[in-house]
Amino acid sequence: MMKATAVAPSNIAFVKYWGKSNDALTLPNNGSISMNLAKLWTKTRVEFFPSFKKDEVWIAFFGEKSQLMQGTKADRVIAQVERLRKLAGVTFKAKIVSENNFPAGVGIASSASAFAALTLACVKALGISVTQKKLSILTRLGGSGSAIRSIPDGIVEWIQGSSSDTSYAKTLADETYWDLADVVLVVSTEEKKASSLEGHEAVNTSPFYKARLQTLPQRLKIVRSAIRQKNLQLLGEELEKEALSLHSVAMSCDPPIFYLNGGTFFAIQDIYELRSKNIPVYFTMDAGPNVHAICLQKDMQKIRAYFEKKPYIQHIFTSEIGKGARVIEEKR
Ligand code: PMV
Repeated sequence: MMKATAVAPSNIAFVKYWGKSNDALTLPNNGSISMNLAKLWTKTRVEFFPSFKKDEVWIAFFGEKSQLMQGTKADRVIAQVERLRKLAGVTFKAKIVSENNFPAGVGIASSASAFAALTLACVKALGISVTQKKLSILTRLGGSGSAIRSIPDGIVEWIQGSSSDTSYAKTLADETYWDLADVVLVVSTEEKKASSLEGHEAVNTSPFYKARLQTLPQRLKIVRSAIRQKNLQLLGEELEKEALSLHSVAMSCDPPIFYLNGGTFFAIQDIYELRSKNIPVYFTMDAGPNVHAICLQKDMQKIRAYFEKKPYIQHIFTSEIGKGARVIEEKR
């Protein structure tokens, strides 16, 4: 029996990965920066055994029983297992059992935590010895690019790179560096109509995409500098512009891609309202309608209580910055 269990956090992007130059290698058109979310995670156990007849993928989505997956979701997981199995020279089939403690497919980066946990659990179970840089690269190859940033601790940068070996993730600041928090405002748990994969593929149909790419080197500099200075206002203003830039590109694609809904705009208005009352809080959205309210830990409960009363809110999660992926059980 070769088995291992890993836990990996979801992450929220301050500067977002949107569009790729190479599909097979998941090479991005720009560098990106995110923070890991300590309280939102995926836990995955992988077992390789000679008597297993076929690969099986079991997933327990948020609040649901574990189910045997079929179709594209299972295929993507098995393709990553196969890639790592080949690397290790192992032929045994695998059983993968995964659980999420937050809703999937709604723009809270469930594929990021899922592919980071899967890759680390496989690497450990198969006894592949890798540096953290190499582990991030192997994770990226799974196809969910943002998963690369769930490998290192804390606030993480995905260095764009120009080849598979130079496109990797590294920690910019560890999870204890800054008392930032994310109040995740869930305005819909309905699975999004266009996946982020479709979004990446459509970017060149937007007349605004080139302009977006031109702004990103400067944006990355500002975000790095805001992190260095622990300046929430500088970070917040930049991350709001960044979220609007991504969604402007998505909405101006042909055909248009809408990730945002009415609840998103109510939440944005209420974040402005909180700011007018001198509570420093800023919004960002990934590829989904849900709003991440980025603030300081000391304001987290106050902000949560404010939004709990709003009729358009379905769930609220709160999280500090978290560590990256880690192994919690290993047996070989
Ligand atoms: O990793 P993917 O293919 O699910 O794409 C992630 C896209 C965004 O969440 C919108 C941005 C990001 O950098 O996380």
